Amino acid sequence: MSVLLTNIGELVTNDPVHGGASEPRAGGPGDGLGMVADAAVVVEAGRIAWTGPASSAPAADVAVDLEGRCVLPGFVDSHSHTVFAGDRSAEFAARMTGEPYTGGGIANTVAATRAASEEALRARGRALVREMLAQGTTTVEIKSGYGQDVATEARMLRIARELTPETTYLGAHTVPAEYAHDRAAYLRLVTGPMLAACAPHARWVDVFCEPAAPTAFDEDESRAVLAAGLRAGLLARVHGNQLSAGPGVRLAVEVGAASVDHCTYLTDADVDALAGSWAGRSGSGSGVGHGSVATLLPAIEFSTRSPYPDARRLLAAGVPVALATDCNPGSGYSSSMPFVVALAVREMRMSPAEALWSATAGGAAALRRDDVGHLRVGARADLTVLDAPSHLYLAYRPGVPLVAQVWKDGARA
Ligand code: NIG
Ligand code: FE
Repeated sequence: MSVLLTNIGELVTNDPVHGGASEPRAGGPGDGLGMVADAAVVVEAGRIAWTGPASSAPAADVAVDLEGRCVLPGFVDSHSHTVFAGDRSAEFAARMTGEPYTGGGIANTVAATRAASEEALRARGRALVREMLAQGTTTVEIKSGYGQDVATEARMLRIARELTPETTYLGAHTVPAEYAHDRAAYLRLVTGPMLAACAPHARWVDVFCEPAAPTAFDEDESRAVLAAGLRAGLLARVHGNQLSAGPGVRLAVEVGAASVDHCTYLTDADVDALAGSWAGRSGSGSGVGHGSVATLLPAIEFSTRSPYPDARRLLAAGVPVALATDCNPGSGYSSSMPFVVALAVREMRMSPAEALWSATAGGAAALRRDDVGHLRVGARADLTVLDAPSHLYLAYRPGVPLVAQVWKDGARA
């Protein structure tokens, strides 16, 4: 059965056919959202079958009148930690009165997650993914990292796999207390038996590379974690440069990671390395499988009261930028991509179009996915309908629930 979504006031496709950019390219995406005014979309068998002006839309089995609303590709939230137990709201309150964020609170979530039942973890993860969907997120990545023992890491990833194909093994989130005096032994566990138990449930391997945080991992440790994951058939991504201008970006580019996330503190060499990872890969069809995206997580700077990453510097250098929530109980517990877009515009001086591209096509590039993040013909029919005439309203009306409908794989979610 085909469905015609019509009377769309503004359609954002990221499709080059309409002047957009569905994939990263050297020189950056610019403002190319591939917009069509007074548009329609035809959806068939879960995929986009046609987009264009409503006046020339083909016939379909069913028509849905969207009454002038704006339609976007579903948000791609490429970084979250949404399977966990416990509550760290008191840490947030302490930060708001001056405590710094050090990553030390991760141990509290590890203790609660180990103690939780599988059903409780599953229920929380499901509820958060539902919450994200209601805010327009149709693709989400979920990490382990609050188990830090073989059984709990594997349990987190089994549950995450029920919720999304984009699952990430983050056994190397921090060194748990019982290994504080033998980091090498924890690394052997993470790169050995824990990896073996987790790899069947994961697509990605990640590491919190941050020499400034005593419980996180330095360059050599991080390299060993990523190398082991790659050998096990996983693809690499990195938490890097969150608290200091550490080696995370350098390492991510060295191993060909799809993304390095946070990027709050960068040297000129880091920016050059990220831009260089995309060199010679211009034009459509060539971008998705290469280069390291800079994924910015401004809800974390908001919730840790930290300086925001310099998005303009990255964009000026031609580095593809993604935006994601990093939804987690510690450093930032927002599941809202519209909030992240508003922060990116207001606090990081991204244009509304740049921010929306980064929250859709940018997230897809960070996950090396070419079937989401845009509405090219053949893409997954994942659509977010805003109760607003244009995408500008995402930042113009922050905190307002603008998402009127979400379509996932061609069906109303
Ligand atoms: O992405 N940087 C490390 N990991 C998470 C924080 C996790 C936590 O504090 O629980 C992050 O910010
Ligand atoms: Fe994170």
